[in-house]
This record gives sequence, C-alpha cells and structure tokens, in this order.
Amino acid sequence: MGWIKVCENSSLKDGDIIGYDYNDNKNRLLIAKIKDKLFATDGICTHQYADLSNGFLNEEEKTITCPLHMSAFNLDNGIALNPPAEEPLKTFKVISKEDGVYVLIEES
Ligand code: FES
Repeated sequence: MGWIKVCENSSLKDGDIIGYDYNDNKNRLLIAKIKDKLFATDGICTHQYADLSNGFLNEEEKTITCPLHMSAFNLDNGIALNPPAEEPLKTFKVISKEDGVYVLIEES
C-alpha cells in the first residue's frame, strides 16, 4: 500500500491524537504528536472494539489509554502496559513532509 497521507501538518498539533480510516474503512490508524515527535499505531484497541482516538494521551509517558477499559499502550512499540489488553498494537513508520503527515502501510 505504501505511504498514505493522513492529514495536513497544520491539523496535528503537539498533544493531538487523530484517527484515520484506510483500506476502504476496514482499518484504522491512531496518529499522535508529542513534542514534535510523531507516532502511528493501530487505531483500534487489541482487547475489544474501542477507538483509541477517543482515548487519553499521556505526553510524559508517551502512552495512549483506551477509553473503554483503560489499558495503556506504549506509543513507540505498541506494548500493552496493563490489563485487560494483552496484545500489542501494531506500530507504523510516520513522517512529516512539506505537504502533510504520511504513514507507511506495509503489505501484509
Ligand atoms: S477495549 Fe480497550 S481495554 Fe478493553
């Protein structure tokens, strides 16, 4: 699939999280920005169906906490840090270019 544009640079400010649907809305990403660093992970919790873009970003710990049962995930490596989620989130390469923010979706 390659690099996909997920948003304009101006629509992702420090401390923001957004969700982005791709693959004909079958998959969803979470994109976060903390202190000018970008993160991209699966956008749906690995425990049950919860949209992580409605979750809680911890900028100090660099984690996203699921809004449904409050499992936290490390944004760098996707690891689930507390139950009930056990499976990690998939993580993706993400870059900012002149014309927007891009995430690399590898073929699976
Ligand atoms: S759905 Fe995310 S922790 Fe349960």
